[in-house]
Amino acid sequence: MLGRQDRIEKALHAALPAPEIAPARLHSAMRYAVLGGGKRVRPLLAYGAGELARAQSERIDCVAAAVEMIHVYSLVHDDLPAMDDDILRRGKPTVHVEFDEATALLVGDSLQSLAFQMLSEKRLADDARRQVEMVELLARASGSRGMAGGQAIDLESTAKTLAVPELEFMHIHKTGALIRASVALGARCGNALSDAQLSQLDHFSKFIGLAFQVVDDVLDADSSTATLGKTAGKDARNNKPTYVSALGIERARGLAVELRDDALRALDSLPEHGGRLRQLADFIVLRKF
Ligand code: IPE
Ligand code: IPE
Ligand code: MG
Ligand code: MG
Ligand code: MG
Repeated sequence: MLGRQDRIEKALHAALPAPEIAPARLHSAMRYAVLGGGKRVRPLLAYGAGELARAQSERIDCVAAAVEMIHVYSLVHDDLPAMDDDILRRGKPTVHVEFDEATALLVGDSLQSLAFQMLSEKRLADDARRQVEMVELLARASGSRGMAGGQAIDLESTAKTLAVPELEFMHIHKTGALIRASVALGARCGNALSDAQLSQLDHFSKFIGLAFQVVDDVLDADSSTATLGKTAGKDARNNKPTYVSALGIERARGLAVELRDDALRALDSLPEHGGRLRQLADFIVLRKF
């Protein structure tokens, strides 16, 4: 049996149009953006939750690919000159540098559509109502009340000082919402969890989603471009308010650990105390890239 990482790569590979299919340049750019790089944290969270819900792997493959496509779309747009203006992503030139800005916009547009196409696939569910709920869940998490809204707040906040509650609001939208959706969608691929357990899983994902972006802020300030595969020190240079600018690096690090501990406590009442989600929570907080 394939491991989870291999399943994810295979599912993404299979879902993306072949590079020779017209329009070939757009399809090549989509594949360039998605394949061969990235930690795949959101798909791994979907597998972790799906396994607790005793879901079939083929179903989790669909939601894992869908959340990664939304994530990659958000990265491609985040890197554009109109947003963070970055030239390096996952150790390679960003899509607008390797191709051009218009192609980068279209890569994002197309990946977003493809994500929803994945969630609409017949193999995902035999319960149409559940499947529509899953589509709605991802739509809400990606849109103006989720990731895209968080990105809008991020842009409006440039060169401002945000208080911690405002930073938290920005982070739980721009990054937390999709992480929360990845866990919720994975869990909804199966039937083994009670409503109370789903609610505990939701607590877990809220804590770990915020922790993820706190750690991203710390790494931006604290790591090197070579280790990150993206330009280090960009937040300070772009004058972005972050947990590091608000709390200093040591307190930001401490907060990430506290959030991880809260996340782990939320898993206690789940089967196998959350199984692989525990290791993922550690990875998210202790990672170096
Ligand atoms: C980076 O996400 C952008 C944020 C939401 C913080 P990741 O750190 O998951 O990036 P990849 O997918 O591993 O490249
Ligand atoms: C990006 O946050 C969040 C999304 C892409 C939604 P950042 O701007 O901090 O991500 P990086 O550091 O460029 O990966
Ligand atoms: Mg950004
Ligand atoms: Mg950025
Ligand atoms: Mg960052």
